Amino acid sequence: MCGIIGYAGHRPAVPVVTEGLRRLEYRGYDSAGVAFMRQDDLRVIRSKGKLAALEEKLADEPVTTATCAIGHTRWATHGVPAERNAHPHCSNDGALAIVHNGIIENYQEIKADLTTKGYIFHSETDTEVLVNLIAERRKSEPDLLHALAGALREAHGAYAVCLIQRDAPGTFYAARMSAPLIFGLGTGENFVASDIPAFLLYTRRVIFLDDGDIVQATSTDYQIMHLADLQPAKHDPQTILWDMQAAQKTGFRHFMLKEIFEQPRVITDALTGRITTGRDTVLLPELKDLPIPKRLHIVACGTSYHSALWGRHLLEHWAHVPVQVEIASEFRYRDALLQTDDMMLVISQSGETADTLAALRIAREHGATVLGLCNMVGSSIAREASAVIYTQAGHEISVASTKAMCSQMLMLALLALYWSGRRNNAAALTKGQRRKWITILETLPALLDTHLPSMHEKARQLSRKYSQARNFFYLGRGHCFPLALEGALKLKELSYIHAEGYAAGEMKHGPIALVDALFPTFALAPDDALFPKVKSNITEVQARQGKIIALTNEGMELAADEIWIIPRVAAPLVGFMILPVLQLFSYEMSDYLGKDVDQPRNLAKSVTVE
Ligand code: M6R
Repeated sequence: MCGIIGYAGHRPAVPVVTEGLRRLEYRGYDSAGVAFMRQDDLRVIRSKGKLAALEEKLADEPVTTATCAIGHTRWATHGVPAERNAHPHCSNDGALAIVHNGIIENYQEIKADLTTKGYIFHSETDTEVLVNLIAERRKSEPDLLHALAGALREAHGAYAVCLIQRDAPGTFYAARMSAPLIFGLGTGENFVASDIPAFLLYTRRVIFLDDGDIVQATSTDYQIMHLADLQPAKHDPQTILWDMQAAQKTGFRHFMLKEIFEQPRVITDALTGRITTGRDTVLLPELKDLPIPKRLHIVACGTSYHSALWGRHLLEHWAHVPVQVEIASEFRYRDALLQTDDMMLVISQSGETADTLAALRIAREHGATVLGLCNMVGSSIAREASAVIYTQAGHEISVASTKAMCSQMLMLALLALYWSGRRNNAAALTKGQRRKWITILETLPALLDTHLPSMHEKARQLSRKYSQARNFFYLGRGHCFPLALEGALKLKELSYIHAEGYAAGEMKHGPIALVDALFPTFALAPDDALFPKVKSNITEVQARQGKIIALTNEGMELAADEIWIIPRVAAPLVGFMILPVLQLFSYEMSDYLGKDVDQPRNLAKSVTVE
């Protein structure tokens, strides 16, 4: 959360930095700001709200020739979204400006100490404390690099920072600890940013900085050192192969809609090279050195957690692996009693979610093997896991996760088939059964391509009819329960309508008391072994005047206010048909209600603070 960028080069720096902020805005959009040199002054321009508000302010500024600048787009942690809390923050003497992503946990103590020394604070942020701590250190250190390193050693918590100073206008400094930061090497220009798209227009050569790295860079030179002793840190630059296509809407009204419609392609890409010609064996060479786990703990947050719950059904049923699934923020604070022969699977689209990363580190401390399932190549989770499988969904820009979940489900299905194949005994699937499931997986892209337009139209119609509802239940059983949770999450995060996902069988244990004619229920009732049970639960809701939108298959006997027929796919893989329906319904509800689809209020794409 929060996006930062630093630039030193031969171009006008402010447009480069604001363009980079546009590509980082998915990380937070409560306020934005830039800092650069104007003649002998360190100029800081900040604005509450989205980047557009900052751009309006910048339009009133005289054109600047500055070739070094920093920028920030904020997701508020300390202090309300307001201009005074927006970054960059300056030191009291006006000599330093900093942008920061993360939380300095001991900032109150540092602030108290600096206050006794006469420092004055204009914001409620931990960042303003940090920049003044650096200024204070600067008084006794030989140079700014040593002052920054000293201050960061004193500060506890998570950070990615970028700093510029009035007295050395062409240099930026940056450092990272538990927050993403990537260095971009251009020709006659260098960059640092929270994510690669911020500078991908200019260079594909990157260095993924490690925790504890500190950087000093000009347009033509850079040094990366260890924060602890300022000795050189060894890094080999890597070349980014993907392009900026993912960062364009390509004719779609919103990124979310585009990403929903990309799901057939996402499935095709995820299957490419993963299936043998006999169509009965899955290839996951990334896992060849890892045993089949005796016990698998899957840890994730948000939508990735729902993928994990869905994947558990397949891993248990197809591969006979005992699975526990847990929310990362809960896992990290209990005694998990991990064994050295346990395996942890961490699922994260961004690969940077703070709680998921913390869970990974705990597992590694316990000696457990950690497998990462990530979308972002080179992310912290991908780098720290013992092995990683990439979901290859491409950049997901919309804050609401869609195609990432589809790709996670696909990889979990492949993982279950892979371990089932390696187990190769009667307890797991036979070759013939594996061939059946693989064949079904391969039909999914074409099926989705055909049906997505009509699903979209139906979602549009129903959103008009149900847009006045203030509450929604999403009910499902078995493999559909995680999808019910996901449907409810999508509706609340996008349209701010209260929605609860429930295991259909749990309704009688309390929640059904809420049902009345104004509290509609989305019931997931595909043709599967639990259909009769779900049907009974639907009847119970109807007996309390509850309206039902039922997702089901052709030929199923079911009475509901709305019957939404989805293409027939054998359960549990029918989930690949249910998921886009839920996504499209929430998308249309949000758009019809005039909400900000791609950047819902209070949210950020990458949750790098706990
Ligand atoms: O990057 P991650 O998969 O670790 O992110 C996890 C959640 O923050 C994320 O899925 C979030 O719940 C989305 N807003 C859901 O749409």
